[in-house]
Amino acid sequence: MSLGSPHIMVRIIMIGESGVGKSNLLTRFARDEFHIDNKSTLGMEMTTKTITLPTGEICQSQIWDTAGQERFKSLAISYFRGAKGAVLVYDVTNRHSLESAREWLAEFRKYADVDAVVILVGNKCDLTSNREVETREGVEFAKQEKLLFIEASAKDSINVEQAFIEVLGRIT
Ligand code: GTP
Ligand code: MG
Repeated sequence: MSLGSPHIMVRIIMIGESGVGKSNLLTRFARDEFHIDNKSTLGMEMTTKTITLPTGEICQSQIWDTAGQERFKSLAISYFRGAKGAVLVYDVTNRHSLESAREWLAEFRKYADVDAVVILVGNKCDLTSNREVETREGVEFAKQEKLLFIEASAKDSINVEQAFIEVLGRIT
């Protein structure tokens, strides 16, 4: 290994219902971009980003962004085998997306590494007047399922980097 090159490689996967903001969390983290238009992911997209962990270690992350649409579900699941980490996203303005997160988690656990680290992210916390899921409900779900938890906004750049660093830092 040459001096200064990343010495930890970590692959994680973004999962959750269509429209919850998986792709925008990722573009905000990787490129500081947000897209207001609703452009659903088709199939699978992969992004890499090199980050410095709180320990000072340099980590090269490879983040797979799955499509939440039902027709791509089996494709998404095919990437779960042996995965060591996931960002499980729901939308705080959409109660159904929290129920859906339970189903995505169950599928993930069937195939992922037994020690896989999962962070539950309640996205769109900027939309305060449309909120359908209270913070304590996310906290409770995460506690029951032994997940990390954070509320975030890809739009307003709230807790996005923290969410990724938390999960990446715990895998290594
Ligand atoms: P699929 O690719 O279909 O699985 O959806 P996705 O989970 O990747 O959702 P995406 O990132 O495409 O976002 C869906 C819509 O929600 C877009 O119109 C985004 O602009 C919007 N959105 C995403 N994150 C936020 C957020 O934090 N706040 C607000 N207000 N809107 C958001
Ligand atoms: Mg997407």
